Amino acid sequence: MIRETLTAVLDSYSDGSAFSGIDPYELREKIGALGFLPEEGKGFEQVLKDTEEVILPHMLRTWSTSYMPHLHSPVLTETICSELIIACFNSSMDSWDQGPAATELEESMVFGLLELFGFPKEGDGCFTSGGSQSNISAIIAARDWYCMRKFGQDVKKDGLPKEYSKLRIYTSEISHFSMDKASHILGMGYQAVRKIPVDSKCRIDLKAFERMLEEDVKAGLYPYCAVATMGSTDFGSIDDARGMRELCDRYGMYLHADAAYGSGLIMSPTYRDRIAAASLCDSITVDFHKMFLMPISCSAILVRDKELLKCFELHADYLNREEDEEDGYINLVGKSMQTTRRFDALKVYMAFQTRGVNGYGRIIDTAVENASYFYNKIAKDPEFIAPVEPELSSVVFALVHGDEVNKKVRRILLSEGTVIGQTVKDGRVMLKFTLLNPNLTHGQIDVIVARIKEIGNSLAE
Ligand SMILES: Cc1ncc(COP(=O)(O)O)c(C=O)c1O
Repeated sequence: MIRETLTAVLDSYSDGSAFSGIDPYELREKIGALGFLPEEGKGFEQVLKDTEEVILPHMLRTWSTSYMPHLHSPVLTETICSELIIACFNSSMDSWDQGPAATELEESMVFGLLELFGFPKEGDGCFTSGGSQSNISAIIAARDWYCMRKFGQDVKKDGLPKEYSKLRIYTSEISHFSMDKASHILGMGYQAVRKIPVDSKCRIDLKAFERMLEEDVKAGLYPYCAVATMGSTDFGSIDDARGMRELCDRYGMYLHADAAYGSGLIMSPTYRDRIAAASLCDSITVDFHKMFLMPISCSAILVRDKELLKCFELHADYLNREEDEEDGYINLVGKSMQTTRRFDALKVYMAFQTRGVNGYGRIIDTAVENASYFYNKIAKDPEFIAPVEPELSSVVFALVHGDEVNKKVRRILLSEGTVIGQTVKDGRVMLKFTLLNPNLTHGQIDVIVARIKEIGNSLAE
């Protein structure tokens, strides 16, 4: 079964395109016709045949060099092998007796990551389902830490302090929306998220941040946490975490680094300095399913002080007895929001060991250099606008012919099997390349640019 499935996957890929270009209504009809739950099972052979005929042709091929809309990467082959092992053994990370080797390997990878990102040995970490979960874990830890320090309130046991509606979190106006979601889930609502303006390079304006803090404290609010985006979703811009650290220290605040995107730079000998200041934060989100090219899902939250993750610690007689730990059986559920949890750390282990620092360095440098190549090419071209020079591997740009033309260009490319991104900057519709695929060549970039211009000019006529 596994061999036949692999053959079907390989056979499904006949050209270089990222997508079949099928219309959504037609695809919905085809998928609907597959049915839901038959009375009698059809048998694997038939199911694989149906899957091969109806589903696989219209899957998005992340490995295609014509795929560049999102922080959604092609995956390293060794990590596909890891997924097979993960699925076969189906280890769960909540308790030692559900994954002895898995638990020990995750712990070992976490301690390696602490060192890699410049955190002390007293730190800790945990794998999560993605950047959003890593961010919310950090914000919960920040809130509990602050409430204990400021109000002597143990939120885990006693709930929120009466001042909770005055707590404020600070992040840039272009930060990821998981901050707003986290604030809602934490019971403080979107109103508690203060959006700091960004400068011309899309980085937090530190002066504006300082002014907001002064005004908010004067108004009786409680700034408890700030989030430095180290690799913003659209622009790849990297906030000045060092400057933010100074302000956070002055105001007794927690500082989290959302390095979901930019964390990959740590592997680059050339660009790692760009995110070195993440080590000054109290916690860091690291996503392996973005620049590190691993299958979804794979992320980690790292904290500088292991006490911070204790906000998730809780014991149950059926799962993680206190005496287990005394006897050396570590139960990782005590560090996590989730109970049952995947053994994603295996992917990190297998990829790190396969590639080494040098192999990974080349992958990351290629992504960053491709973005630079593309930016330099269009920045000189009067038919394009490219407002922000990339620090990472994303470039936001537009044709000068206006919003409607730009939107149509993306749709036409999609129907041709080339998938690029779309966003908005300063009220204008923009296009976006998110360049994660190390196999992308300058020649291929030139071809896509030429096609974009061609479509744009024909629409603008
Ligand atoms: C900067 C940033 N933070 C967090 C996230 C959320 O990550 P995930 O989609 O893995 O939940 C993203 C996703 O693109 C992101 O770009």
